[in-house]
Amino acid sequence: MNFKDLHEFIDFLEAKGELVRIKTPVTWDLEITEITTRTIANQGPALLFENVEGYQYPLLINMYGTLKRMGWALGSENLDELGHRIQSLIGMAQSGPPETILAKMRALGDLVKLASYKPKLVSSAPCQEVVLNGEDVNLFDLPILKCWPLDAGRFITLPLVITQDPETGIRNVGTYRMQVFDRNTTGMHWQTHKVGAHHARLAREQASPKLEVAVALGGDPATIWTGSAPLPPSVDEFMMAGFIRSQPIELVKAKTVNIEVPAHAEFILEGYVTPGETMEEGPFGDHTGYYSLKEPYSVFHITTITHRKSPVYPTVVVGKPIQEDYFMGKATERTFLPLIQLLLPEIRDINMPGEGIFHNLMIVSIRKEFPGQAQKVMHAIWGLGLLMLTKTIIVLDDFVDIQNASEVVWRVTANINPETDLLMTKGPVDDLDYATAGEFRVGTKIGIDATHKIPGEPRSNDWPPEIEMENEIKKLVTEKWEDYGI
Ligand SMILES: Cc1cc2nc3c(=O)[nH]c(=O)nc-3n(C[C@H](O)[C@H](O)[C@H](O)COP(=O)(O)O)c2cc1C
Repeated sequence: MNFKDLHEFIDFLEAKGELVRIKTPVTWDLEITEITTRTIANQGPALLFENVEGYQYPLLINMYGTLKRMGWALGSENLDELGHRIQSLIGMAQSGPPETILAKMRALGDLVKLASYKPKLVSSAPCQEVVLNGEDVNLFDLPILKCWPLDAGRFITLPLVITQDPETGIRNVGTYRMQVFDRNTTGMHWQTHKVGAHHARLAREQASPKLEVAVALGGDPATIWTGSAPLPPSVDEFMMAGFIRSQPIELVKAKTVNIEVPAHAEFILEGYVTPGETMEEGPFGDHTGYYSLKEPYSVFHITTITHRKSPVYPTVVVGKPIQEDYFMGKATERTFLPLIQLLLPEIRDINMPGEGIFHNLMIVSIRKEFPGQAQKVMHAIWGLGLLMLTKTIIVLDDFVDIQNASEVVWRVTANINPETDLLMTKGPVDDLDYATAGEFRVGTKIGIDATHKIPGEPRSNDWPPEIEMENEIKKLVTEKWEDYGI
């Protein structure tokens, strides 16, 4: 399973009965959101709107909207399979990081393999079949959605924003929404802690007149997803996409900026951000389930648009969970688990439920061996890349099924003594955290230690045994079950 572009993925989903073409006229103004929200709630298909009133280009939404489709998008039957591939890439056995010299050598060999997924530069590309400059640049030719009633306007919600570190030249690809201000200007909602914002700050420090930016809309479904993956700044999202697809992706030089862009994208927007220039962006109905309010963000000036002869406009709706971005986030959770385990080998599993909006809640299970280990894990998570923004961390033991909300609620509320098991600390918070952030991007975090207490920790002496039936009796009852006539 490996898709060259969105068109191949659309054909694949259609053949699987997982895509519906909608020919009934629909408007970009709220109607598509309502249709999509209802479809996602019923685990319904991807939707290709072929008749958005007033627009010639079809609009694709909900392509990632189930765990199965998300897996397919990343070339796997399910997301755990992909997690295992990543685990083997970093040469890590279930029991922990590679211990032996041989295992380390193997892991090294696998990392060299990753380099073989380096993107391939090509000289001509479908995404440049049509080139529009000057007066021909017009975002209102694209069926961009207004998603929610109080939104400030129309927002591009699934872009791949490509920038280069002004100091090192290292590329970053991030998915940051873009509010359409006029035919060739948008907001650039890269939040404070994101790599794009870092590039803009560096460009400002260097007093550069411009930070070049290219935005890809579309591409193969694995590449589109990598824009939302919180990779460390030194890891190239396009190389990661190549690894996920088991085939390098093709890039082409943009027409007017010195940036390479995915050759098989649908549209490319080329232009620049002027360091220091901001405009009010929002409100926008966000994935918190509330509107994120007006805030100043960078401004993207578009000088050129290139596109395929017959492009499709891909988008998503975010809003009250569960929406399509939940499945994109679950893919991140599953693929990043092995990477987190590389640094924190005691972690067995993680769960970032959709209702926790990712940065609000992380549930972790650990194999606990020493007193205070739950707190050690909390501190480590708060120091790990974008996980620094996690507002609530709940730590449980390795034998707990943390994917089971019922078990989690039972164990957490039963196991904690709030006075001793809650850890409050301060640190950076997500720009979208209206409850704590406001004008200051610093807030309080809470860690909940719901593990069983062990010697060396308070209350370990009188920790009661958990109720378990004897195996012999279980076996006996299973054997006699039919006889009971229940
Ligand atoms: C549909 C969708 C929309 C997103 N919109 C934004 C956004 O507007 N601003 C932002 O900073 N992050 C947004 N994100 C999250 C980022 O894409 C994510 O944090 C990613 O890791 C950023 O890339 P970076 O780590 O290279 O900065 C969005 C994610 C998804 C799936």
